[in-house]
Amino acid sequence: MKAVSVADYRIIAKKRVPHFLFEYLDGGSFAETTKERNNSDLESIALRQRVLRDVSEIDTRVELFGHSYEMPVALAPVGIAGMYARRGEVQAVRAAEAAGVPFSLSTVSVCPIEEVSRVASKPFWFQLYMIRDRSFMRDLLARASEANCSALIFTVDLPVPGSRYRDYRSGLAGESRLSGNIRRIAQSLLRPHWAWDVGILGRPHQLGNIAPVLNRDSGLEDFLAWIGKSFDPSVSWQDLEFVRDNWDGPIIIKGILDPDDARQAATLQLDALVVSNHGGRQLDGVSSSVKALPGIVDAVGDQMDVLVDGGISSGLDVVRMLAMGAKSVLLGRSWVYALAANGQVGVEHVLELIHKEMLVAMALTGCRSMAEIDTGVLNS
Ligand code: GLV
Repeated sequence: MKAVSVADYRIIAKKRVPHFLFEYLDGGSFAETTKERNNSDLESIALRQRVLRDVSEIDTRVELFGHSYEMPVALAPVGIAGMYARRGEVQAVRAAEAAGVPFSLSTVSVCPIEEVSRVASKPFWFQLYMIRDRSFMRDLLARASEANCSALIFTVDLPVPGSRYRDYRSGLAGESRLSGNIRRIAQSLLRPHWAWDVGILGRPHQLGNIAPVLNRDSGLEDFLAWIGKSFDPSVSWQDLEFVRDNWDGPIIIKGILDPDDARQAATLQLDALVVSNHGGRQLDGVSSSVKALPGIVDAVGDQMDVLVDGGISSGLDVVRMLAMGAKSVLLGRSWVYALAANGQVGVEHVLELIHKEMLVAMALTGCRSMAEIDTGVLNS
C-alpha cells in the first residue's frame, strides 16, 4: 500500500509493529471519548472557500522562540518512540531537520539526549515530566542544556497516568514480568521484520534518559510502572519556579485545557503553552483541544504563544487550528505512525504531505501567510 495520508500511515503502522506497540500509540484512556472528540470536533470545523485572491506565492514559515521554521508544525514528544523504528528518535530528529520543523524529545524516550544530539545539527526541544527525585531532574535539565536544546516543554497533565485499557489488554501493562514478556515476544514474532530490525538490531531498549537512575537496565516492562512510581503527583504551580531556576531558555507548559489554568500560567512569564488533553490519553470526557483553544487564546493569547495538539492529521487540520487562534501545532500519533511504517523516510514524507495539504488549504481559503489565517477563514 502506498501511503498518501496520515490515515494510510496508520494502517501500515498497524501491520508493521507488534500489537502492544500499536495499541500504546493508537489508544486513548477509558472509553476514548476525548480522543474521538479531538478528531471529530476538528473535522467538523467548516472553512470558507475564497476565490480570485492571487495565491501564487504562499509562505508557511513561522518564527518560534527566535528560530525560523518552514511551517507551524512541530513533532510532539512521544514516549518510547524509539521502539517504533530502529533508534527511532534519531531517525525522527533527522526527518524534522530535513523538513525544517522542531523535534521534541520525550523524557521517556528510548534514545538518550546525548545520542540524539550527536546526530542533530540544529537544536531540538526537550520535554520534561516532574519526577520525584529533584536532583535527577536537575541533572536531566543540565544534560538538555549541554545538548543545546533550545526550548523546554514542561508537561503538566500527567501527575498520574490515565487508565489506558488497551495497554492492559495488549500485555504492555498490568502483567507479571514473565507473562508480559511472553506475550510481547509472541506478538513480536508475528512481526518478523520489526523483530529483527528493531527488536534485535535496535537495542538497547531502555528508557535512555532515565537509565542512570534505575538500578538495572530498564526494559519496556518497567515503563508504565516507572511512570506510576516516579512521576510526582504533588507537582504544583510552585514547582515551575524550580524549573525556571534550572533552565535558562524558553519554557513551554504543555497540557493546559482550562482558561483559569492558562491565566495562572501567564503570571509566570512562561514563553508558551500547549492546549492539550494529551491526545485523549489522560482524563477521558474532557473537551477536545480545538474546543478549548479559543477560550485560552482569549485569556492569554496576548501574553504568551499558544500552541495546540490533539487530533491533527492533515494540513487542513493545521489551518483549522491556526484559524482558531494557535500559533503552531504539535503532531503526536501522526508522525509516529509514519516512523513505524517507514522510519526517517516515512516521517519526512508525512511532513511533506502535511505541508502540501497546508498549501492547498491556504490557497483555497485565500491565505498567503500565517498572519492571514484567522477567524475570517472559518465558516461560522
Ligand atoms: C506518556 O506521555 C503517554 O501518554 O503514554
